[in-house]
Amino acid sequence: STDRMGIIARYREYLPVTDKTPLLTLHEGNTPLIYAENLSKQLGLQLYFKYEGLNPTGSFKDRGMVMAVAKAVEEGNTTIMCASTGNTSASAAAYAARAGLDCIVLIPSGKIALGKLAQAIAYGAKIVSIDGNFDQALSIARDITAHEPITLVNSVNPYRIEGQKTSSFEICDTLGKAPDILAIPVGNAGNITAYWKGFKEYKAIDKIGQLPRMYGFQAAGAAPLVHGEPVLQPETVATAIRIGNPASKEGALNAIKESYGLIESVTDEEILAAQKLLAQSEGIFCEPASAASLAGVIKLRQANQIQDETTIVCVLTGNGLKDPDIVINTMSFESQTIPATYDAVLSLIKK
Ligand code: F0G
Repeated sequence: STDRMGIIARYREYLPVTDKTPLLTLHEGNTPLIYAENLSKQLGLQLYFKYEGLNPTGSFKDRGMVMAVAKAVEEGNTTIMCASTGNTSASAAAYAARAGLDCIVLIPSGKIALGKLAQAIAYGAKIVSIDGNFDQALSIARDITAHEPITLVNSVNPYRIEGQKTSSFEICDTLGKAPDILAIPVGNAGNITAYWKGFKEYKAIDKIGQLPRMYGFQAAGAAPLVHGEPVLQPETVATAIRIGNPASKEGALNAIKESYGLIESVTDEEILAAQKLLAQSEGIFCEPASAASLAGVIKLRQANQIQDETTIVCVLTGNGLKDPDIVINTMSFESQTIPATYDAVLSLIKK
């Protein structure tokens, strides 16, 4: 079966693959498109989740990273580098290990989720923590890779976008069409750019009749595309999208304009409420940044800006296990320890 062969082998005809491109893979892609049985009823929509958190390192980054790393190998490079809010660094570190490359990751000190940091450490990356935010880290990484023989694997690397567009193909193949709306969190804006490219390519070869509208969602404290200007000190609990000056701004704005879509912001409260709702209504655990897609759909639906029974795919970009702290710190739970007896347990659960 072609299902688990990885995106390079599976989609090679749609990707910049040559005879010299190694068929690198950790069996990324082919993630499930999950119909939301309960939330669809509750919201009066046809709601699906593209669960990218089931990729090998737990985020959508793997689709783009496998392509970028394979091309780095093909071009004879031996070191890759990225700036990251966490997921890109985890993915870069994993594929570098797989391909036998060195990997340097530049991260904002204290502002990446614990699971992501653990991944970068475990995969053996050289971790450089800066006293600054993602935007500053990316600026430095771009500078260094322009002067040193190191390949930049942030989404300004066009191979990243190529790999990531394959998620659009999967959504269309599963639904038999494009959704009416594709709802997606936006940080550095590479992913919305990639999805739109994928949909347009599928339309151009008649695989789908109609294109979706692209709805991008940013965190309220990190919403440069909503405000129309960079945010110097972005802040949000959704650390993955704590970005004030998106590198792929043009790609995002173009996707929104061409698709008659929109860009909106959601508050941290709306993001955390959506994360919890999704976990407790559907059994799907995503990280806060990913929940921005659902939070945005709920917000627009409540404001009567989305019609009944619209088919919507929300992209769940990262796995909830990446960021356990946020759950422990924000969702209340029974933490009282009681005697290890039948009676004590029974009396507590009957309370
Ligand atoms: N969701 C998650 C979980 C992410 O990690 C990111 C980006 C996004 C959404 C936004 O995607 O940047 O393409 O608009 N994370 C990057 C990183 C910045 O370093 O891991 P985008």
